[in-house]
This record gives sequence, structure tokens and C-alpha cells, in this order.
Amino acid sequence: MGLRLAFASLIDLKDSYTEGHSRHVRDLTRQFLEYLKVSSREIEEITSAAELHDIGKIGIPDSILKKPGKLTEKEFLEIKKHPIRGADALKSLQGFDGVSKIIRHHHERYDGTGYPDGLVADKIPFGSRVLSIIDAHDAMIYSRPYRKAMKEKDALKIMEEEAGKQFDPLLVLKFVKFLQQKDIYSQYDPVCGMAVNSQQSLFNVIYKRETYIFCSQVCLTEFNNFPEKYIAASQEKNNPEDKPYG
Ligand SMILES: [Fe+2]
Repeated sequence: MGLRLAFASLIDLKDSYTEGHSRHVRDLTRQFLEYLKVSSREIEEITSAAELHDIGKIGIPDSILKKPGKLTEKEFLEIKKHPIRGADALKSLQGFDGVSKIIRHHHERYDGTGYPDGLVADKIPFGSRVLSIIDAHDAMIYSRPYRKAMKEKDALKIMEEEAGKQFDPLLVLKFVKFLQQKDIYSQYDPVCGMAVNSQQSLFNVIYKRETYIFCSQVCLTEFNNFPEKYIAASQEKNNPEDKPYG
């Protein structure tokens, strides 16, 4: 457990821009698995993999990882090494065998066109199929250096369209249902773009008679410093670039 936390904080240290991504993916993975009623052993294993899935990105130069523009083919090849690097780093640790396998395959696609091994459908470990859904969803609803955050409903529409292509069709339908049922997402943090539960968020502010809610104190403070900037950005139409998710 302690080791896992140390690893997770290493990932955030490497890529402060996506800080919180590992944590969000971990938490949503756990909730989704509980909804699916899988065994607690599986929940622990897949949740650990979710938290550590991008640990292989530690080996990628910042010039590529934080590049705001489009990646060259060579740079994308470098990015594509992260599942194997992460899996290999963990493989030697006792008890991390299953976690390592899930991480290795988290960028496989259901139709077999993913990486690193081009596995198809049920050949992809269950945990990896779950993780790829949550990872992509989280990447879509957050801003990245190269892409603005998408609205939750736009993200879910894309995910449904990818059923049977990028994602396990049955799992992705269950995921959409899970989100709708839980009604987790009712409002968006205007700073990071994350969907926030308006009933649960402790961070909110009223500005020009409008209530804004935030995922954290960090985003709330940032908003207070530049409110007009974030209001304008949140009203702008989303314009996602053609980039790999996750
Ligand atoms: Fe990844």
C-alpha cells in the first residue's frame, strides 16, 4: 500500500499537468467495479492498476509529454512505450503480477488495433478493458495541453460510438448507465473542466449572481484570481483535436 502511494505520487511529480488524473481514474474505477459487483480481490487489483497505469510515462521526456502541439509520428511512438515500461517496472515486485498485466494492456482496443500487443476483444484482460474506458473518459472531460475539456454528454456520446471499436461494447454501455444512474456529474469545474457533483462539492463561489463549483481549493483559488478568463473559456465551444485519449 505504502509503495503504491509512493509510486502514484511519482507520476504526479513527473506530470503536474495531469496531477489528479491517477487519483480520479482510481476512484471512478473503484466505483464502477463496485457497481458491476466484481469480487473485492479484483476490485483491489484493478484499482491499483488504475492508480499506477501511467507510471511508464516517467521515462518519457518532458518535451514530448508536455508538448502543446500535435505530436510527430516519432514522438507518438515514444508515448506508446509507456504501457510496457510501466508494466515492466512493476513486474518484478512481489504481488504486482496482475497489476502489471492490466497496465501493459490499458491501450489495447477491442477491435485489435491498439497497442502494445494488438490483442482483440476478450483476449484483453478484463481490468484493462475497464481501465481503458475510465482513462479515456477522464482524459476527455479534463483539459490537456493539446485539448480543451469536453462536456460530459459529448464525451459519453463519443464513448458510445466507440463501442466495439475502442471499447468493450457491453462494458461501455454499462459505464454510461452507471454514470447516468449515479448522476455523479451535474456541473463542471470551469477551471479544470472536471465534472463535479454539485451536492457534494465543498468548493463553490458565487460570482455575478452565478454559482460555480470546483473539484478542489486549487481550482477555486485559480478561478478567484482570473474569473473572467475561466467563464469565457467554459462558454467557448469545445474543439477537441485529433489526439489519442488517455
Ligand atoms: Fe496510458
